[in-house]
Amino acid sequence: MDNLEYLEKFGNRVDIESLRKLKADKVQMFRTKYQKEYKEIFDIIPSLKEDSNETLETATKLIPWRKGPFQVGELDIDAEWRSDKKWQRLKESLPNLKDKVVLDVGCNNGYYMFEMAKQDPKLVLGIDPVLHNQAQFEFINHFKKYDNLKFELFGIEDLPNFRSFFDVVFSMGVLYHHRHPLEQLISIRESLVPGGEMIMETIGIPGEETICLFPEDRYSKMRNVWFLPTLNCLKNWINRTGFVDMEVVSVSTTNFEEQRQTKWCPPPHQSLQDFLDPKDNTKTVEGYPAPVRFCIKAKKKAHSPIKTF
Ligand SMILES: C[S@@+](CC[C@H](N)C(=O)[O-])C[C@H]1O[C@@H](n2cnc3c(N)ncnc32)[C@H](O)[C@@H]1O
Repeated sequence: MDNLEYLEKFGNRVDIESLRKLKADKVQMFRTKYQKEYKEIFDIIPSLKEDSNETLETATKLIPWRKGPFQVGELDIDAEWRSDKKWQRLKESLPNLKDKVVLDVGCNNGYYMFEMAKQDPKLVLGIDPVLHNQAQFEFINHFKKYDNLKFELFGIEDLPNFRSFFDVVFSMGVLYHHRHPLEQLISIRESLVPGGEMIMETIGIPGEETICLFPEDRYSKMRNVWFLPTLNCLKNWINRTGFVDMEVVSVSTTNFEEQRQTKWCPPPHQSLQDFLDPKDNTKTVEGYPAPVRFCIKAKKKAHSPIKTF
């Protein structure tokens, strides 16, 4: 696995000592799970060859594949999500990523990092605190071989270790899983260089008012959903946390073509059809408004002071 040398050249914009400690703590935290479920997989990945039985076996061991699709030789990994559809919605509105330093918060298996890599960024750091996602990322990148993509098991809460650091931060599908959405926006802002850009993609609820839903318990069967804003509420959060030049990139509803069970994410893993009211797809199974997906881009003010450690 990577050490953190690739961050050293950024000097005092990153708290490298604290990230080293954090990484060591994560290794400890995941030690049992790693030994029991993932050691064999991580060990075999470097020797895999396209279209071999071992490659198919390893991809199969890595089920469920939530984000995709991926093509590895003849192997077509048709994941639960057609993540390419989200990328198509955003692509035209994104800043040019060539030579940029980019963060993808909650990157899952790195599907979007591989798309970003096509533009030749200086670095794309993907953070996601789930070992299964890291194993899928390492599996795919073994074949794609991008040196400028790095995956760390860090979370959004670790972002204060970066100051005036990233040119572009993507936060997609993460804001509503966070108990403190404004804090997340502020840490993203602080981690950006002056004039840097945030791509914020999240689910929310329909409606014109500047309000958000706080589910009583589960939302679409998920326990970890906290604040679901209307589009106007999201714009207000972004405004009031100091971003400028805000632009709504897309407003969409997820359908059964974009999120569904596949053989790479089979039952008992659940998907959209299990989360919506079967008689009325405008509602979740709990009776809340079904989610709407918003994507907004916005910038950190260009004259913001540069903060360092
Ligand atoms: C709904 S998925 C979104 C994945 C991807 N960004 C996308 O848009 O398709 C949420 C992701 O956030 C990750 N996650 C969970 N806790 C997190 C945390 N504290 N910080 C960052 N990511 C987290 C999950 O592992 C998961 O991959």
